[in-house]
Amino acid sequence: MYYSILFCFKFEGINNVILNNKIVLIGYMGSGKTAVGKELSKIFNIPFIDLDDEIVKVEKRSIDKIFEENGELYFRKVEHDCLKNILKSSVLSVISLGGGTPCYYNTIKMLNDNDKVNTVFLRASVNNLVERLSKEINHRPKIKNLKTKTVLSEFIGKHLFERNHFYNKSKFIINTNNKSINAVAKEIELFLT
Ligand code: S3P
Repeated sequence: MYYSILFCFKFEGINNVILNNKIVLIGYMGSGKTAVGKELSKIFNIPFIDLDDEIVKVEKRSIDKIFEENGELYFRKVEHDCLKNILKSSVLSVISLGGGTPCYYNTIKMLNDNDKVNTVFLRASVNNLVERLSKEINHRPKIKNLKTKTVLSEFIGKHLFERNHFYNKSKFIINTNNKSINAVAKEIELFLT
């Protein structure tokens, strides 16, 4: 009896958190937003939405093509509008943003002011990001011309310096260095329940 009361209490506690809040993953390219997002979607049994994929569906062309044909400012506007549309839905979900999403318009404030949203920053060191990104650089318009690890590392260092200002405003911050996707997702589960 005692255990079942405890169980119900915990179960209700979990539901209170899970059922009221979308999880929005924030972080630099290569920080694991998509992989961790998919894992969280399994853990909580809620849909996973990748903002880049939604933009590709709306624009009917790749992110690379959008940058090439219309430039970054156009992309940022589409990205912001797309996110606003996703947030209109009352369906609970895990949403993985693009690396630059929280750094344009009033996006990070809009997210943090929304009491149905938990923003989670997946923090990774420059070295970890360089290791992950140097293997998959070609489809990323912001860094695809940076061919050596030294140049990439310098670029990411400067870029993170600017972007951390926005990322650090997230409600939760998780250090992902040298942790598996599953370990990061489990840590987020603990934070949120
Ligand atoms: C970008 C990150 C990309 C994508 C676009 C721009 C950025 O998303 O939105 O290439 O400015 O950091 P991921 O962080 O999912 O790679």
